[in-house]
This record gives sequence, structure tokens and C-alpha cells, in this order.
Amino acid sequence: MSLRLRNPLKLLRSHAIALDIGSGRTLITNPQSEVLLDEPTVIAIEHGTGSVIAIGTEAKSYLGKAPERIQVIRPIQNGVITDFDSAKALLRAFFKRISPDDGTRLKVCAVVSYGITELEKRTFADCCKAAGAGKVDLVDTPLAAAVGAGLDIRQPKGRLLLGIGAGLAEASVLCLSDVIFNDTAPLGAENFHEAVARHLAARFKVSIGENMAEQATLQLAWAERPDEPRSMTLTGKYSGSGTPCALELTDADLEGALDEPLDALEALVRKAMDRTPAELVADIADTGLTLYGGGSQVHGLDSSLGARLGLRTRVAQEPSLVAVLGAAATLRPDLDFKKLLVK
Ligand SMILES: Nc1ncnc2c1ncn2[C@@H]1O[C@H](COP(=O)(O)OP(=O)(O)O)[C@@H](O)[C@H]1O
Ligand SMILES: [Mg+2]
Repeated sequence: MSLRLRNPLKLLRSHAIALDIGSGRTLITNPQSEVLLDEPTVIAIEHGTGSVIAIGTEAKSYLGKAPERIQVIRPIQNGVITDFDSAKALLRAFFKRISPDDGTRLKVCAVVSYGITELEKRTFADCCKAAGAGKVDLVDTPLAAAVGAGLDIRQPKGRLLLGIGAGLAEASVLCLSDVIFNDTAPLGAENFHEAVARHLAARFKVSIGENMAEQATLQLAWAERPDEPRSMTLTGKYSGSGTPCALELTDADLEGALDEPLDALEALVRKAMDRTPAELVADIADTGLTLYGGGSQVHGLDSSLGARLGLRTRVAQEPSLVAVLGAAATLRPDLDFKKLLVK
């Protein structure tokens, strides 16, 4: 199914955008699936005055380094807005960056986790409006991700998806354009980073910051050992003495680092299948498991989970983008996905 637009001019005038404000990353595209913004969901605010010091990538680089007068905030945690004012300030700045300067208001379709409450979903819509959006529609992440991944969810055929965002994993069974089962766990890419930091602390007696833990996860961590050896220099400090360290590490040093989060992800998917009617599970034996979200890109996660679960498992193309691409598809009248929107 092609997500390319046949008549782009018609929609360009409406300034419609798709928004995925995740705990880790915020993505904005236009209805033609072009990425307009891709930034960490982080804002740095001055204590007391509340003035915005930095947003996105720059604010993220302050993590673990900011003096007390600057608060570095992640306003979305585990799929919900935990700091409304900061989320609003961040969205306002992001909207300003991508809005044409002609006074036209934005029409937003935002993805939200399926498992959160109605009130939490409405808070997303209210926050977008408070940040300057005109009309706001919401779409549940698993449905949006499936559409963005190119799965035909209109068929009477069960589909199993596992999304691994920054702070949340979401297992869903979909059929006939609806969510049949969904369960979430506070278990995302950030738990991978923490597991890597703990592993390195135990093995090398080093203490590393949040950003270094993320880099080590991206470059070295694996669920199934890579064929090509990987290495990187890890910087931090030795616990106890506090002296700075620069360690040359390879992927072999990360053996077993992700065992705990992998066990938990396997359990989440097993539970989803256990709670799903037999007919649909029989479909899933055929359709397999589709992974999406930034965390699904850990090396070998698809083959490792596939082997554990006995399911054909694949990572969606552009796994971090699929949810926002699905939201973009709902903005296009030619694709007829409007009925996926949260009522
Ligand atoms: N190749 C990769 N391997 C492991 N984790 C990754 C990779 N690429 C991105 N990530 C992680 O994915 C997370 C962001 O995923 P995303 O799905 O955008 O999260 P969210 O939607 O919750 O903001 C980040 O924490 C990042 O470290
Ligand atoms: Mg996301």
C-alpha cells in the first residue's frame, strides 16, 4: 500500500500535521509522510522564572550536566503527560518551528498509547490546543503503527505487534481495524540503557551518565551477537575512586546485559497471546510478530524474540516512524483511515 499522496496541494493549504510526542522522541510529519521535525522530547527550563533555555537535542545534551538553576525535563513518561506546562511549552516551540508564518492554525493528528485512560488521552489533545493547535484528533499508537508498517488491518486476520518506545512497551493484537487485546509494561529503550549501565557498573566498576548509557546501548548491546565485531570508547568515572575513565569496550563485554528486559518483553508478548482467542492466535502463527519503536532496533532483537516465542518476527521498516506515518495516513481523505481516530 502506497502512502504517497496523489494530490498534495489540496492538503498543503490546511497545514495538517501528524504528531508523535513520545517519552523519548517527538516526530512531526506532513500528510505526505515527510518528516518536518525529529527531536528528543526534552526541555530545559530556568528555575523560578520558568523561561525556556533549550529544547530538543540541545536540552538533551544538558542531561546530567545542568546546574541547579536549570531544570532538564522529560514531560512525557511511560506514554502519559507528567508535566503539562513543560509539554505545552515544548510543543509550542516545536509547532512554531514547523508552522508556516501565515497565521493558519495547525490541524493535528496525534498518536497516543492505547492503554492510557480517556482522561490521559484528552490531556494530549488539550496540551496540543494549549500549544496553539486548532483542531486535534487522536489515534491509538498500535493502529497507527500497523498502518504505518503497511499491514492491512482491515482484514479479518489477527495481527500481533510489539512496540518498544523509550519508556513503554505495548503488545497489541489487532483485527478488523480494531484493538482486540492490548497490554503495556513500563519497559522501553531506557530500560535497556539502565540495564547496560548496571551491567557495566557490576563488571567494570564504572559509573556512566544517561547519554553515555544510551550510546553504549545503541553501539554495543545486542539480543543476538552481531557477526561484525563492534567497539567503542566508554567514558565515565570509576565508582569508589571517582577518577575519570575511558574504556575500550567491544560487544562481547555486553554479553547478557539485556537478559532481564528481554525476559520481560517475552513475558509481555506471551501474556498477550494467552489472553487472545484461539482463532486469532492461529492467525498470528501465520502473520507473525511485528516490532516497532526505537527500542526494536537493538541488534538481533527480532531473531531473539522470534526464537523465544516460536513466531516469525520482523522489525517494521523505519520502526521509529511507523506510528507517526500511520497518523499521517489518517489525514489523507484518499486513504480512508478516518475511522481509526479515537472517538
Ligand atoms: N538502534 C537502536 N538500538 C537501540 N535503541 C535504539 C536504537 N535507536 C533508537 N533507540 C532508542 O529508542 C528510543 C526512542 O524510541 P521511540 O520509539 O522514538 O520512543 P518514544 O516513542 O517513546 O519516544 C530511544 O531511547 C533510543 O535510545
Ligand atoms: Mg513513539
